[in-house]
Amino acid sequence: MLKLFRTTTFRLALILMALFGTAAAGAIGYIYWQTNVLLSRQLEQTIEAEIQGLAEQYRAGGMLNLAKTVANRSLTPGNSLYLVTNASGQRVAGNLTSISQDLWNSVGRVEFVYDRPGQKGTESRLALASVFRLTGGFRLIVGRDIEDRRVFERVVRSAFFLGLGFMALVGLGGGWVVSRSLLTRIDAVTEISRTIMTGDLSGRVPVYGSGDELDRLSENLNVMLERIEQLMVGMREVSDNIAHDLKTPLNRLRNRAEAALREKGGAKPYREALERTIEEADDLIKTFNGLLSIARLEAGTAGEAKEEIDVGALIQDVVELYEPAAEDKGMSLTANAPKGVYLTADRQLIGQALANLIDNAIKYGSDDDVGGAIHVSAAEIDDVIEITVSDNGPGVLEKDRKRILKRFVRLEESRSRPGSGLGLALVAAVAYSNGGEVRLDDNKPGLSAVLSLPRKTNHNGTVGTQ
Ligand SMILES: Nc1ncnc2c1ncn2[C@@H]1O[C@H](COP(=O)(O)OP(=O)(O)OP(=O)(O)O)[C@@H](O)[C@H]1O
Ligand SMILES: [Mg+2]
Repeated sequence: MLKLFRTTTFRLALILMALFGTAAAGAIGYIYWQTNVLLSRQLEQTIEAEIQGLAEQYRAGGMLNLAKTVANRSLTPGNSLYLVTNASGQRVAGNLTSISQDLWNSVGRVEFVYDRPGQKGTESRLALASVFRLTGGFRLIVGRDIEDRRVFERVVRSAFFLGLGFMALVGLGGGWVVSRSLLTRIDAVTEISRTIMTGDLSGRVPVYGSGDELDRLSENLNVMLERIEQLMVGMREVSDNIAHDLKTPLNRLRNRAEAALREKGGAKPYREALERTIEEADDLIKTFNGLLSIARLEAGTAGEAKEEIDVGALIQDVVELYEPAAEDKGMSLTANAPKGVYLTADRQLIGQALANLIDNAIKYGSDDDVGGAIHVSAAEIDDVIEITVSDNGPGVLEKDRKRILKRFVRLEESRSRPGSGLGLALVAAVAYSNGGEVRLDDNKPGLSAVLSLPRKTNHNGTVGTQ
């Protein structure tokens, strides 16, 4: 409860309520005041007209005439009040029965309370009257009953306080409801951040789909959490890779060196063993470097050196580089390099990715290690550049296509060929860091690997708007 009172929404509701209350009070006060002014003016006019009439009678026929008129007028029921008394204060004519000493003594406009017989006995009512002293000690009191105004005042006052009370109730209630729903959502975020702090990165902030600012905040938090989780998983995978996939070759290297030492064959076998050791160490270094490149790409700390790349020229360069290798295997390597297709990215990384795809096509693109055609092409579709490398070898089964993009995954049938299983993982990492993707399609027969990249990306791999 206390937490609720301390929320910003609740305080805001209170402030708004106070402001609105003041404004409403001002408006009601003004209306009341204006109504009063109008009513008073009307009252004044009525009394004034009454006085004028009586004055005329008095001037025309003196005291007697006045008393007669007053007596006459007193007969018609209404809110007009009259009294004519003689010098000793006895009533001569009029409908006012008893008057106080104060009223008797005063002169001019007076407000007073008088008694009048009503349904429930005598009732005290408010009146406004003018008191005149006439010759011979006579007095004339002319006025009107203004009890209705007192009632009106009372009604307005009670309506005002009732309204204010109701408003306070609604304001507090509304503030309470809004604050509580907000608090529930904030509490959900707090709860999630607690579970995340304990190390469980899979938690996500609930999004209610209302599209409000809290939803937007939650969505952004979730994107952030997604990214953090990816990075953490990536880091864990790299350490796992180092622990498992690099330990075996290192052990092998060590055992071979040991075995060579145990051999007693002179300098020649030693030399051979050393050469093989260097070869394997080079492979290991290569694998290490590949692994590091992928990790850096996934963490978003590589590929910062972006430039405008002429895709056609790049394809030409890489294809030229691999032509001899393809020729050696009796394969044809052709390229359909378009002109005027540009890409903003790290040239070296894109080149490396393309090289890895062509290398795979040469390595696995022919069933029997002879023949086969490899084709490299590029096209721009809706601001997305697609570089395709297709071969007509055995291809990859549908179920393996996702799997081989992972680090160190090599298919059983390829084990005889050299490789560490990092080539496609690097291609995927390059694609990802540029906000693109790698697709492996069936070339019927063969494999068609598509590197699909948005023409322009911002630095952290998400597609930029332009
Ligand atoms: N064009 C292809 N045709 C058939 N299989 C392929 C093709 N490209 C890749 N593969 C399969 O996917 C596996 C993973 O490829 P990847 O390029 O990641 O590793 P690699 O070629 O074995 O080693 P590296 O590229 O690191 O030298 C390969 O071992 C192979 O089994
Ligand atoms: Mg490869």
